[in-house]
Amino acid sequence: MKFLLPFVVAAFAVFGATCCDVAQADVPAPPRIAKPQSKVLVVYFSRAGEQYNVGVVKKGNTAFVAEEIALQTGADLFEIKPKKDVYPKKYDDLTDFAKKEMNKKARPEYAGKVPDLKQYDTIFVGGPVWWGDWPMVMYTFFEKNDLSGKKLAPFCTHEGSGLSGFDKKLQKACPKSSILKGLAITGTVAQKNRQKTAENVSKWLDEIKVKKIAEPKKLP
Ligand SMILES: Cc1cc2nc3c(=O)[nH]c(=O)nc-3n(C[C@H](O)[C@H](O)[C@H](O)COP(=O)(O)O)c2cc1C
Repeated sequence: MKFLLPFVVAAFAVFGATCCDVAQADVPAPPRIAKPQSKVLVVYFSRAGEQYNVGVVKKGNTAFVAEEIALQTGADLFEIKPKKDVYPKKYDDLTDFAKKEMNKKARPEYAGKVPDLKQYDTIFVGGPVWWGDWPMVMYTFFEKNDLSGKKLAPFCTHEGSGLSGFDKKLQKACPKSSILKGLAITGTVAQKNRQKTAENVSKWLDEIKVKKIAEPKKLP
């Protein structure tokens, strides 16, 4: 009997293993709950009216970029509209007005209710460069809302000064957020060249690793 024991043990091990494999294969895998793609929001400010190099426009330059981001990512859009729209429609008057606002470090109120930010972990924030800075109303948004722990992706339109430190200024205003690489597009391109805007946005989304639901289409 002693002589047979190793064989019995070995046979048991083999049988046991086979038995368990079969049993495992028969047990259906527990159903997986698909992780919902975390939602993305685009918050932007933009001005219709007379703008540099594009004439009088019905839709502001930054609005085109914001909409393109939303199209490619499936993001929700929230436009920052001043509560009292005191901004002049003529370009020179607007620049004077904005300069005064900046010197005063004004925090103009915006209209409407920001969507519940808990549902988003990535928020695109954009606006035109005004005097090398974010328009003051965007600081109202940054300071009034809890953006801690969010990934913030800054974008701007401009006419020569590029990103203008939008990323660093955003980090200062939102020290508990992580700031992704920013995107700068000239207002003229945003207003007049949809294809180029779409391609720039697409390339940038790849760089900052934000999932796209649509690639830019080649326009005729
Ligand atoms: C008040 C004001 C200040 C501006 N300051 C700058 C600037 O400092 N640097 C720059 O490159 N463009 C500047 N621009 C040009 C705008 O950034 C550009 O036209 C932008 O695309 C306008 O965007 P919007 O149509 O979305 O408002 C300024 C425009 C305005 C109205």
